[in-house]
Amino acid sequence: MLFSQDIGIDLGTSNTLIYAKGKGITVREPSVVAMDVRETPSKVVAVGTEAKNMIGRTPGSITAESPLKNGVIADYEMTADMLRALIKKAQGISPFNRARVMLSIPSGVTEVERRAVHDAARNAGARYVSLIEVPMAAAIGAALPIGEPVGSMIADLGAGTCEVAVISLGDIVASNSIRIGGDDMDEAIISYIRRRHNLLIGARTAEDIKIKIGSAYPYDGEAAINIKGRNLTDGLPKNVEITSAQVREAIADCVNQIVDMICDTLEKTPPELAADILDRGITLSGGTALLRGIDKLISHAAKMPVKVCSEPLDCVAIGTGRCLEKNILGL
Ligand SMILES: Nc1ncnc2c1ncn2[C@@H]1O[C@H](COP(=O)(O)OP(=O)(O)OP(=O)(O)O)[C@@H](O)[C@H]1O
Ligand SMILES: [Mg+2]
Repeated sequence: MLFSQDIGIDLGTSNTLIYAKGKGITVREPSVVAMDVRETPSKVVAVGTEAKNMIGRTPGSITAESPLKNGVIADYEMTADMLRALIKKAQGISPFNRARVMLSIPSGVTEVERRAVHDAARNAGARYVSLIEVPMAAAIGAALPIGEPVGSMIADLGAGTCEVAVISLGDIVASNSIRIGGDDMDEAIISYIRRRHNLLIGARTAEDIKIKIGSAYPYDGEAAINIKGRNLTDGLPKNVEITSAQVREAIADCVNQIVDMICDTLEKTPPELAADILDRGITLSGGTALLRGIDKLISHAAKMPVKVCSEPLDCVAIGTGRCLEKNILGL
């Protein structure tokens, strides 16, 4: 039986999305919690967008950060607090009308990490908690024919993790994951600019640069932008110009690790299924799938067609929700 409170949650390193049964995605917030550390235990001041806006601008007594690192829970209490607030937001007035929750978790996590996600959701007021692996949720969200006896390959490229899976007859046949993602690209841009230009920039500026001119493959209309930061020699503000080619060089190591992960998985895939993937192509989801040219680079390396699904940032959440609505996988 389906309860009206059924919700699907994509608990990501950078974004948390909630899909309410029959309504679609109703919550889309950054995975950030702001805490007042003067109180014991620390008190939640804000979650989501409001908390993200506090990053780098908080007085000493308030911290604002993501409770997840590389797709897994780094701070259990903060994760439960964030889930409680977001479930409440999804459901309106009563936070404790005991939702049935379908939560996505990265594949390849330990039993302890699985347990932590399960318990955090229970602690946040969920009545029943089912877990689904991210690549399976992404494949359902992208409407791949996972139940059929054909191989489908999905790669979910996120902020803290990238995962790839080959699915056939409702099961994962081959998979791989790495605990790096878009956040690590931002870090790589920060250290490149520090090394090359002796300039210090923040994580938000780095992400901005990546989204505006970053790419995995040369593209038409490459640009250069002026960025402001702090000169590490004299501590004064300074401007430098950064080009698309420089950003590509900065993030090359992260990008190559993603490509290698996909190619290694193809090598481990049974030949019939690999032939299906060659026909149907590889599907990409997750925010990092929006990096310009990453589809083209993967396609060159794997010698296969590659396409980005229609809503890469929402795909996993849509998958968790569809799973509840259609009772796919018999959950
Ligand atoms: N247009 C874009 N170009 C490049 N990167 C992008 C773009 N839009 C978003 N991103 C990156 O996508 C990432 C967020 O994606 P997503 O919401 O799928 O991650 P997540 O689910 O929170 O993380 P994870 O699945 O690793 O736990 C961020 O690193 C962000 O910088
Ligand atoms: Mg994700």
